[in-house]
Amino acid sequence: MTPTTMPSLEELDVSNLELWQHGPPHEVFRELREMPGLHWSELGDFPTEGGFWSVVRFEDIAAVGRDHETFSSDRSIILVDKLAPEGEPDPIDISANMLISQDPPRHDRLKSLVQRAFTPKRAIEHTERMREIINLIWDRALEAHPDGRIDLVQDVGIYVPSMVIGDMLGVPREDADRLVDWTNRTTAFEDPRIVPDLGEVWRALEEFIPYVNEMVTERESNPTDDLTTAVIQAEIDGERLSHEEVLMFFFLLMVAGNDSTRAVFTSGIKSLMDDPEQMELVRSGAVPLEQVVEEFVRFHPAFAYMRRTATRDTEIAGQEIAAGDKLALWYVSGNRDATIFDDADTFDVRRDPNPHQGFGGGGRHFCLGAGLARLELKLWIEETLARFPTIEQDGDTERISSTFLNQYSTIPVRVA
Ligand code: HEM
Repeated sequence: MTPTTMPSLEELDVSNLELWQHGPPHEVFRELREMPGLHWSELGDFPTEGGFWSVVRFEDIAAVGRDHETFSSDRSIILVDKLAPEGEPDPIDISANMLISQDPPRHDRLKSLVQRAFTPKRAIEHTERMREIINLIWDRALEAHPDGRIDLVQDVGIYVPSMVIGDMLGVPREDADRLVDWTNRTTAFEDPRIVPDLGEVWRALEEFIPYVNEMVTERESNPTDDLTTAVIQAEIDGERLSHEEVLMFFFLLMVAGNDSTRAVFTSGIKSLMDDPEQMELVRSGAVPLEQVVEEFVRFHPAFAYMRRTATRDTEIAGQEIAAGDKLALWYVSGNRDATIFDDADTFDVRRDPNPHQGFGGGGRHFCLGAGLARLELKLWIEETLARFPTIEQDGDTERISSTFLNQYSTIPVRVA
């Protein structure tokens, strides 16, 4: 969308993909943060789905995120409730069973059970395996491209997180590539280059579901020391997850842990390549890597938004909201709110403190994998920079066409 074809703010549909061609429309979000109340968009691409409010200020996002009684996560975390035409199977019917799309008390029961298994200790114990996977993927990329001209996303990014979480769950390494493919096809539903039609999502799920089902069934009778077994065995007051709940959790981890970590890593490395001074700060060790990771996540939150639905008539920032209205919590905007972050549009690894909303705005749905993601990103940056004294951009980037997934599909680099 060029400035001359840009509709006025009142008529603007923030979810119009044309606005997102070069990444999140930060200028639009700045204007929305400055306007009183909240902005309403009609959902241009899904006219039967009604519209939505854009929650764009840091404090408003935090307030909505904490009030799960008024703002429900039930059914869908994206702006639409239905993707498939009437009468056809809909992937949202499946994701609706995951804890990310549930409200308390069911959500809290599921989350406490899985937290028993998915502990920070388990992630830390996986440190050496993660380093190994990161280097294995770099080896593979260099084998395929001995001249060091690599696509950071397609040759490296798409493999590491899915292999790490797959490895923790107990997926054999030889199946990792299939899992990457299924996960990509189930999440990038807005991008016709990856998912030409919804049937593609469904076809991916038709292979993905039986695979996971078989694995979980196998662990039920033959327990091992992997995360899948730990989730099956997690118990509170004698109660465990059902077989279906374990399946749903498996999918959620694969999807939530894969796209997100890859998006943050690849975009963050691009920011370092764009700014040699920042790269030098990281390489020289002047800034702790833990702090670098936080700025990666603030500047490039992997999920541009998560949705909530009002359960009753209410008010946010003086804006009346009716029961049933949808709200998009735009984490991409909260992370650039100048009332919280100095020089918010500048990528600066020295930023500290950095109370970003990249893992959610607080409240019940705060990212379960934040600990794993932080550690994995730290190791990934560390191993990559140690291995390559030079890493520079080597061609034009392309982005995934999506308002939900904030990520590149291609970043050509040259490593030496
Ligand atoms: C840098 C990487 C990551 C980012 C930016 C990220 C971001 C997020 C965000 C924004 C939410 C909040 C959802 C909401 O507000 O409704 C969330 C939830 C969640 N994330 Fe992550 N995530 C990352 C990595 C991971 C990893 C590695 C895993 C697991 C392997 C994971 C598992 C989850 C789960 C299970 C939830 C749902 C929690 C709930 O509903 O209670 N995430 N994540």
